[in-house]
Amino acid sequence: MDAQALTIRRPDDWHLHLRDGAMLRAVAPVTARRFGRAIVMPNLSPPVTTPALAAAYRDRIRAALPADTGFAPLMTCYLTDATDPAALVRGHADGLWVAAKLYPAHATTNSAHGVSSVAAIRPVLAAMERAGMVLCVHGEVTDPAIDIFDREAVFVERVLQPLIADFPGLRIVLEHITTAQAAAFVADGPATLAATITPQHLHLNRNALFAGGLRPHAYCLPVVKREHHRLAVRAAAVSGSAKFFLGTDSAPHAVAAKESGCGCAGIFNAPFALESYLAVFEEEGALDRFEGFASEHGARFYGLPLNAGTVTLVRDGVDVPARVAGLVPFHAGERLAWRVTK
Ligand code: DOR
Ligand code: ZN
Repeated sequence: MDAQALTIRRPDDWHLHLRDGAMLRAVAPVTARRFGRAIVMPNLSPPVTTPALAAAYRDRIRAALPADTGFAPLMTCYLTDATDPAALVRGHADGLWVAAKLYPAHATTNSAHGVSSVAAIRPVLAAMERAGMVLCVHGEVTDPAIDIFDREAVFVERVLQPLIADFPGLRIVLEHITTAQAAAFVADGPATLAATITPQHLHLNRNALFAGGLRPHAYCLPVVKREHHRLAVRAAAVSGSAKFFLGTDSAPHAVAAKESGCGCAGIFNAPFALESYLAVFEEEGALDRFEGFASEHGARFYGLPLNAGTVTLVRDGVDVPARVAGLVPFHAGERLAWRVTK
């Protein structure tokens, strides 16, 4: 392989926040430039809970894309305690829903309407299992008595493990994993279980939150963890295992909402996501495994065709600007070694 240029099959983003309105129009073209498809998160306000809301949202996303785009938004249903199993699987059969999203209530941004407990949605999960519909999971417990740095590991043990035992045929994506426990659990788990990994959880440990002062642009949920967790997540990403794939969790918030007395969780990493991931694969000596992670493993897990086109990255570097579309991008002010050319 030529180390100065790398061409891979067009990648997909298996976890993305596109927002709505002006923010949607600002950020959708950024992702559409590089990615073939993206799993679009439904945590709008109000959340995307019905086929009608999802179809209307998909129309607004398409309207925000450049005319010549090949990008396809893949819609997800925001699960609540009131989700109707029949309507959910009908929406899936109709090709509208690609997956459903389980936010434990109050775990993160706009999750107040989320699921109070797995027990509350057992009929929904059983219907999804029968229909072959993928469940995307925000894997953190919300018990305020649990330390925030432990919420993912506790979720894996107390919620995910029993969930898999109860629904062995249900395909589950544990999203944005951040811990050694989650990485090991997924690696050792059944073929029905996979995980997405974000750029920030590959680059940052929790020191980044406090480097010289409080750093709101390093704050996301699940929060970045200790160094040994970061190293375990990196090892999973570059392992070549088909259970791990790209999901940016790019989560834009207005600068004022980030740089605030109560700053929002979320990192806008879409503009340089591929460059960011590729830096990690190069550092780990795994350039040959990048295409699988970025462009193959996710599509195979979802049972979707691989994309037809390609993207090329060259190793001549890029300076990440302070702002993209008026927002602070991940790696702002840094230089990354690779740059997407086409
Ligand atoms: O950091 C995050 N931001 N984590 C999430 O789970 C939600 C997201 C958002 O919507 O802002
Ligand atoms: Zn997210």
